[in-house]
Amino acid sequence: MKFKTLAILIALSSTLCIAGKVYSHGNVLPQGADSSEMPDIEGGDEDEDGWVFENPYRSTDGELKEQIVKFGESAYANNCAGCHGLHAQSGGINPDLRKLDPENFEDDEWYVERLRFGSAKGMPALGGIPEGQSAPILDQKTLWSIKTYVEQRRVVAIEEGEIEGE
Ligand code: HEC
Repeated sequence: MKFKTLAILIALSSTLCIAGKVYSHGNVLPQGADSSEMPDIEGGDEDEDGWVFENPYRSTDGELKEQIVKFGESAYANNCAGCHGLHAQSGGINPDLRKLDPENFEDDEWYVERLRFGSAKGMPALGGIPEGQSAPILDQKTLWSIKTYVEQRRVVAIEEGEIEGE
């Protein structure tokens, strides 16, 4: 009898353990990010909360670009990966962000649009300023860093034939 109770307890606690793991893995709440080390963005439109509509970090190179990509990678992992997939590779349900084409001006505009305003189908407006607040969850420097990281993933994905490119 006692043994049986113990066995049940062990079974139960390991189930709880697994449940705990699944929960923490599935936790997609955005974590925010500290973008203070990223370069300032000039020339934003004051009527549009200071946004620029083309990735200002795309033309950087060398060590600076590496820093931007590195920051973008961690900000992506903490704020986007839960829905858009690890390493920017979508599991197929939500859009694969590597398909956004940096050559296409409209794709950058679309990126800004979705991040500022979200979508009724489940994209949170992480770059929008919530009513009664003065700052978004993720600022423009963070979001363009994420985009720069995703563009690097796109190059790899095209090379490996995972997505189509020119
Ligand atoms: C809670 C889940 C969730 C999170 C977190 C999330 N997204 Fe999304 N995102 C979605 C869904 C769902 C869509 C599709 C919306 C639609 O089609 O209406 C989407 C769409 C988009 C689109 C439009 C893509 C296209 O091809 O139309 C962009 C860009 C985007 N997300 C960027 C991001 C970035 C960058 C982050 C992190 C900062 C992020 N998302 C975090 C769920 C999420």
